[in-house]
Amino acid sequence: MGERLAVVSGGGTGIGAAIARVLAVDGFDVLVVGRREEALRATTARISWDIARPGAVRAVVADLADPEQVSRVAETVEGRAVDAVINNAGSYRGGDSGTLAGVAHQWRANLDANVLTAVLLTEALRPALRRPGGRVILVSSIAAQQGGGGPYSAAKAALHGWAYDLAAQLGPEQITVNVVSPGYVTDTEFFGGRMTPQGHARRVAATLVGRAGTPDDIAEAVRYLAGPAAGYVTGQVLGVNGGSVLGR
Ligand SMILES: NC(=O)c1ccc[n+]([C@@H]2O[C@H](COP(=O)([O-])OP(=O)(O)OC[C@H]3O[C@@H](n4cnc5c(N)ncnc54)[C@H](OP(=O)(O)O)[C@@H]3O)[C@@H](O)[C@H]2O)c1
Repeated sequence: MGERLAVVSGGGTGIGAAIARVLAVDGFDVLVVGRREEALRATTARISWDIARPGAVRAVVADLADPEQVSRVAETVEGRAVDAVINNAGSYRGGDSGTLAGVAHQWRANLDANVLTAVLLTEALRPALRRPGGRVILVSSIAAQQGGGGPYSAAKAALHGWAYDLAAQLGPEQITVNVVSPGYVTDTEFFGGRMTPQGHARRVAATLVGRAGTPDDIAEAVRYLAGPAAGYVTGQVLGVNGGSVLGR
């Protein structure tokens, strides 16, 4: 058993799987949470094999928008202190905005997927956070800062305001709370076939470095914030976007 424990939501795929890997490499025991058991199992097996540490990454199947299922995630921590909670789960939820009922449905779906998942997991694990030294990290999106995703942008922006309050509440206990805001990242399931060659080229052209981001680009920012060197960084939004949005 490692000395430190991290919980990574959405850790079965994409950015979350990259975060689980770097934290496991750094010696954390990692609990990855998602709704699809198969994706979680494949990732946990791959990482544990690659780093030759059996059981380094374990899977918990849960829909994090459902309070009862989130309670069960907290139970699996089994009385251990949680060193880092990485709220990475999220998705863009489309819908029919031609009726008010459709608008309400789409907004609720985006708030559930991107806000409630983070709020419920963090609140469930809040009593278990290591004091002093715990870390809460929220993965938002460049869409929170520049728009472009309708209710998805608004939901991700909500994480920023909440992070500032949570940082103020937990700061006296030496627990930090920060947001990592990714720009355009490929090699994940996020776009699910929606990305066109034109959309890809436009997003790459909007960066200053002339390339799309990788899951590892985001994971390395999380690695820093989750580590011991970042204890004086709290209440911040760290953009990892190739320069697509500057200085905020
Ligand atoms: N890719 C990009 O360009 C980009 C840019 C900015 C921000 N982001 C953000 O980065 C994060 C990771 O996205 P990604 O690009 O790695 O896409 P991804 O591969 O689709 O990962 C999202 C993960 O979240 C999990 N998830 C979604 N809803 C959940 C729920 N209700 N309960 C539990 N798990 C849930 C999914 O697993 P299950 O489906 O198995 O539950 C999946 O593993 C997301 O928050 C996304 O909004 C991505």
